[in-house]
Amino acid sequence: MKNVAVMGYGTVGSGVVEILLNNKEQIAKKNKEEIAVKYVLDLREFPDSPIADKVVHDFDTIVNDPEVDIVVETMGGTKPSYSFVKACLEAGKSVATSNKALVAAHGTELLQIAAEKKVNFLFEASVGGGIPIIRPLYQSLADEEIEEITGILNGTTNYILTKMSRDGESFEAALKEAQEKGYAERNPEADVEGYDTCRKIAILTAVATGKEVNYEDIYTEGITGITDVDFRYAKKMGTSVKLFGSSRIQDGKAFAWVAPVMISTEHPLYAVNDVYNGILVKGNNLGVSMFYGSGAGKLPTASAVVADIMDAAKNADRTVYEGWTAEKLELSSMKEAEHRYFVRIAGDKEHSFQMVKAVLGEVESIVLEGEKEYAVLSAKTKEGEWDQKKAELQEKGLQILQVIRAEI
Ligand code: HSE
Repeated sequence: MKNVAVMGYGTVGSGVVEILLNNKEQIAKKNKEEIAVKYVLDLREFPDSPIADKVVHDFDTIVNDPEVDIVVETMGGTKPSYSFVKACLEAGKSVATSNKALVAAHGTELLQIAAEKKVNFLFEASVGGGIPIIRPLYQSLADEEIEEITGILNGTTNYILTKMSRDGESFEAALKEAQEKGYAERNPEADVEGYDTCRKIAILTAVATGKEVNYEDIYTEGITGITDVDFRYAKKMGTSVKLFGSSRIQDGKAFAWVAPVMISTEHPLYAVNDVYNGILVKGNNLGVSMFYGSGAGKLPTASAVVADIMDAAKNADRTVYEGWTAEKLELSSMKEAEHRYFVRIAGDKEHSFQMVKAVLGEVESIVLEGEKEYAVLSAKTKEGEWDQKKAELQEKGLQILQVIRAEI
């Protein structure tokens, strides 16, 4: 039998306990031994729950108990989770976590400690909730040179953008609805500013390249500047706008960024709507593969944690995934990345289109009836060059209302 301690009995932690209890027989059959919950660490008491007699308030009870084989960290944040997880690994216990902030900030060190102690630090649930993506990257696609990972990695922003696209809602109204439904936090900054997606793409890129990725080096733009007018154009163009976290190898250079991107119905991620996540992986032999499913939520996320617990239990005396090294992945400047740009310009098209073409060359134009503005779709241009062209347009007196990267 293996004993588990769960640190943090919130949404995901309670889901982990629920699955370990409800699927107890199936888990024991597959692992050929029972996996039992010995402790639940939380500040609160849970008197009428199945774990009432397992609640502890002192971390030392867990770290000092030699009978605890595997520790689940579902507290979130990095304090005190980092010091708790580090102490557990140093004490020779495997750890399974859903905490992307912890993995993105301290993954390199925690993986090293796990390898030294011949235990496991596993974090399938930290990206894409219940979608298997970490293990496929290091196991099923181990032979591949990964050329691109592009994902819709945040359910909250995908819900907001889907509402704006389908129902013509403003960003503020869609955010309010997401908050009422419990998808968005009262302080939604981490989701809507792209910080959550940034940590997730940093983790995926590190797994894919075997090198450390500093999430602070990743260009990150959220969705707060996307408006209902943008979606009126998108509707007319048969496109949508999605928040992408992406890392790509282009001309031998590595890029990683988070930004809203306008895409057409042809794009494989176009159909990923509502709170769902979708991740596209391109390998040099594989071509493109897609992973789709519930990127958040109690049981989907807990399911990924439980699979990690089972993996750790089966591999009690060896490290199944050593992770990435401390060598840093050199990321190229966003100015070198190439995109098309959807650009909204104030005023009548007749007034300034010739001027725009003189700077941008031949461009498609889109006019919204009844609006004193129009939009153009540029050719593929490096971001640095685009900045210069944009400045040139502004010097000519044009008012640029919006710029969204486009992959059309
Ligand atoms: N806030 C995250 C999301 C939760 O909306 O996707 C899952 O990481």
